[in-house]
Amino acid sequence: MARVEIAPSILASDFLELGAAIRSVQEAGAPRLQVDVMDGAFVPNISVGQPVVTAVRRATDLLIETHLMIERPERYVADFAAAGADLIIVHLEATTQLYRVLQHIRELGKKAGVALNPATPAVALDEVYDLADLILVMTVSPGFGGQDFIAPMLDKVRQVRTAIDRRGLPIELEVDGGIDDQTAPEVVDAGARVLVAGTAIYGSPDISEAVRRLDRIANRALSRKM
Ligand code: DX5
Repeated sequence: MARVEIAPSILASDFLELGAAIRSVQEAGAPRLQVDVMDGAFVPNISVGQPVVTAVRRATDLLIETHLMIERPERYVADFAAAGADLIIVHLEATTQLYRVLQHIRELGKKAGVALNPATPAVALDEVYDLADLILVMTVSPGFGGQDFIAPMLDKVRQVRTAIDRRGLPIELEVDGGIDDQTAPEVVDAGARVLVAGTAIYGSPDISEAVRRLDRIANRALSRKM
């Protein structure tokens, strides 16, 4: 990937003004959005479901990633595909059918993503690299925005980057949780190329400027690596 992409997470946005929240990041040049779907079972929080993805789809032509923090996501991937998701991310820990569900997402014509919780080692991905378009290394325990970045995850990012590069596969390496002006250079140095950010963007008094600043910081870090 020639540059780092910022993926604003709408979980931290003002849901009463979701349309404006989407326009703000789109006008700032964000190429994608992440919708965090939580079921209160896989994570100790409940957020939004298919109807919100349908509404977001109507509001923007940006790439929509749905991060399914739900038990047995295989039950719902077709619904989220129909709702307008372009990329559907499931948690490795949430299904006994990971191989099959990734195949199913691709059969639906969508990009398939696999997310790893902090306690899950990178080696768990070894058999699914050929089925993934994106790998998400969680840098917080999923369920809430505004948590502290878990620095030991940087080594896992490096391991996944090495595994992707060794295979020569066009897989996006994404990180999510506690990404801000300070941690963005660290995760880029480790090999991340898609940075999900909620609080750092929607918690800022100037949402558009926060997107532009994070993009600038992340891509400056990338250019130092090149
Ligand atoms: C946490 C979610 C994150 C969150 C963003 O479970 O997956 O995407 O919304 O986190 P912060 O606010 O730390 O950027």
